[in-house]
Amino acid sequence: MFSVLTKLAPLALLLRSASAISWALIFSNGNVWSELEYTITVPPAPPSDVTSGPWFFWCGLQPNGGGVVQPVLQWGQLGPSYVNPNPVFAKIWAMILWTVPASGLNNNNAFQSPGIWAAQGDKIDSFMTYNNNVWVQTARVTSGQASGQNTVSNLSASQFFHTDSAGDSNANFFVCESELDGSQTNRWNFNVTFTNINLRAKTNTGVQSLCASAVSHSDGNGFATIQGFRMLNDTTCHWDTVILTPP
Ligand SMILES: *[C@@H]1O[C@H](CO)[C@@H](O)[C@H](O)[C@H]1NC(C)=O
Ligand SMILES: *[C@@H]1O[C@H](CO)[C@@H](O)[C@H](O)[C@H]1NC(C)=O
Ligand SMILES: *[C@@H]1O[C@H](CO)[C@@H](O)[C@H](O)[C@H]1NC(C)=O
Repeated sequence: MFSVLTKLAPLALLLRSASAISWALIFSNGNVWSELEYTITVPPAPPSDVTSGPWFFWCGLQPNGGGVVQPVLQWGQLGPSYVNPNPVFAKIWAMILWTVPASGLNNNNAFQSPGIWAAQGDKIDSFMTYNNNVWVQTARVTSGQASGQNTVSNLSASQFFHTDSAGDSNANFFVCESELDGSQTNRWNFNVTFTNINLRAKTNTGVQSLCASAVSHSDGNGFATIQGFRMLNDTTCHWDTVILTPP
């Protein structure tokens, strides 16, 4: 099956300056994030006349000094390979686990896992955890047409990111966002829903107050509706739902 993707040239992720509605939680007290889990529901396709992209939707963790660990649901840019290269549905959205290095590290090359093609309405669980200088990311489709498909990335943190003397993830920055490139970003016309977001910090210092500070908001590029916050325990924040909505 042919899709619009085949007409688009790959773009350099590092050089993007995109239109984004974003939601961030940033520690400034030395604490860091060490684990993130969430489910994303695959949205409808972009309008059929939109050919300029790519469009990315993701939540991820950013180490101090740059770079990002990010499971990305993407349209308009092909991944290096796919775990299900010939799905029975149209190849519109795929989940790819990206590791984008801090400037100058890993020869400035981002790592992309094999992708998973997923269909509208499919639910994909994404997970990332830091342990002993290793970032493990996984994504698994838990329901829908691509159910059971999964992909993994397992990389050395110091190869991609600046480390600190604490030997922890050094990831003080959590963010969820839409990241729309190209000349038709104003054609975004569907919600993207993230559910069961669990965000774990290394220690309990300042976690509850930072997470509790998250409120629904908008910017010129869209709206973020944030609902159902509670602490799972003193290091782990939970939200039932975050919905990113076009402006
Ligand atoms: C990640 O890779 C390391 C080194 O090869 C290995 O020891 C570890 O078991 C792997 N972890 C996962 C979850 O794949
Ligand atoms: C999109 O999300 C907003 C905010 O939660 C909601 O009011 C609206 O009904 C949603 N639209 C659709 C089509 O689901
Ligand atoms: C807190 O909850 C998270 C998520 O369920 C779990 O991974 C972690 O081990 C828990 N931490 C403690 C200290 O119980």
